[in-house]
Amino acid sequence: MKRDFIHITDFSTEEINEIFELTAKMKAYVKEGKEYMPLKGVNMAMIFAKPSARTRISFETGMSQMGGHAIYLSPNDIGIGKREAVKDIARVISRYDDVIMARLFEHTHMLEMAKYATVPVINGLTDLNHPCQVMADIFTVLEHRQHLNDLKVAFIGDGNNVANSWINLAARLPMHFVLASPSGYDPDETILNNARNVGISRIDILRDPVEAVHDADVIYTDVWASMGQEEEAEQRRRDFMPFQINTELMKHAKKESLVMHCLPAHRGDEITDDVIDGPNSIVFDEAENRMHVQKAIIVKLMHG
Ligand code: CP
Ligand code: NVA
Repeated sequence: MKRDFIHITDFSTEEINEIFELTAKMKAYVKEGKEYMPLKGVNMAMIFAKPSARTRISFETGMSQMGGHAIYLSPNDIGIGKREAVKDIARVISRYDDVIMARLFEHTHMLEMAKYATVPVINGLTDLNHPCQVMADIFTVLEHRQHLNDLKVAFIGDGNNVANSWINLAARLPMHFVLASPSGYDPDETILNNARNVGISRIDILRDPVEAVHDADVIYTDVWASMGQEEEAEQRRRDFMPFQINTELMKHAKKESLVMHCLPAHRGDEITDDVIDGPNSIVFDEAENRMHVQKAIIVKLMHG
């Protein structure tokens, strides 16, 4: 049976920990300049219906480091769901390539892709989830803290795809996850209920960012208007301005708190220059780890 990685919850806690071990090993090899090519001859098709910097570059570079190859398909190439049905392109690519990574708008398209592809499908972001991002995020937290005990994560901003993947993570690793968002911008209700039902984490939705950052180990944010929400940007800027991560908010946080952002950042909106460039920020470690973690995810899906 082929495996897909569409949601964080597609992996068990044990598998997530195995991925972290493999990530650390392969990251060390890169740092030592040691060649490690477990995916010689493996071809990955990368379908992008939305723009990307990190996702494209990290997957493509990671595949090349592992001896494989990645093919970039831009938003203009396939016309997924418009020029061609999702289930057709899923079956066609499965005849050429060994693994598919896709960044799509509709999450239902991602599920359809996984259903019809006979090769593993990796979710490189949908409107609902961004699981590779959050796997890299938590690995980065682990690197910085050396452990994940008594972890409090404060996500300040939109209850979006990245926030939903954090909540999925809270269904696999114990933590206190707090989302501070304006009313009307809550995360997906089904994801929230499922994670709460798993019962290993405490998950709070608050309206006060100051209360949220209190005692938090990680202070996380993302853009206020995600890709596809450009027309709402002005309204969102007004609604979210009290949720900006700035020096004033950081005064209420622990001195050693880690500031994270999946990037790209809209400097001066959700986060100010002094904070993203400041001593608490680990955003570039986080960006780097996209590549290391995704390499381990691909190996896990291909080799078990
Ligand atoms: N964080 C992230 O996914 O970046 P890109 O949109 O540039 O791929
Ligand atoms: N929430 C953002 C994440 C970008 C990596 C978006 O979907 O645009």
